[in-house]
Amino acid sequence: MLIQLTYASRCSHALGPADIKDILGASQRNNARLGVTGALCLNNGIFLQQLEGDRTVVNALYHRILKDTRHRDTAILDLSEITHRQFTGWAMGLLPSLDTNRQLFLKYSGAAEFDPYSMSTLSLRSFFAEVLQNVRWLE
Ligand SMILES: Cc1cc2nc3c(=O)[nH]c(=O)nc-3n(C[C@H](O)[C@H](O)[C@H](O)COP(=O)(O)O)c2cc1C
Repeated sequence: MLIQLTYASRCSHALGPADIKDILGASQRNNARLGVTGALCLNNGIFLQQLEGDRTVVNALYHRILKDTRHRDTAILDLSEITHRQFTGWAMGLLPSLDTNRQLFLKYSGAAEFDPYSMSTLSLRSFFAEVLQNVRWLE
């Protein structure tokens, strides 16, 4: 059964480009093999990730990601059955915290700073739909 899982977490320490490259590299390598798609956003020291794929596979992957010491305060924000994937074209895209993207983050967040922990399920879904339309920002 196909599901989508969205969670947020905070960077446990200041992460450099090498850390991000490592996370993205592992994601692209493993997720393609697992049949998991999605997007990873980083802004204001907060990760927001959406994973799509088979329920059992996504669960196992999420539990592996939970053990990663590069982040903490992990919280599931949305978990739902889906009829189809949104992110079909890549194994894991990254939406980094460039100034242009900050406006997109803020559009869906009530707080002055990007704060996915306080976003509603509907806002999160709209946010990721807009991320999808802006795939040129993803690397
Ligand atoms: C915010 C965050 C998101 C991550 N997302 C993924 C992911 O989607 N897929 C994945 O395989 N690893 C992801 N990782 C990395 C895993 O925690 C772990 O380091 C990696 O899967 C190990 O892969 P390896 O055994 O192939 O080296 C993520 C880590 C962080 C901190």
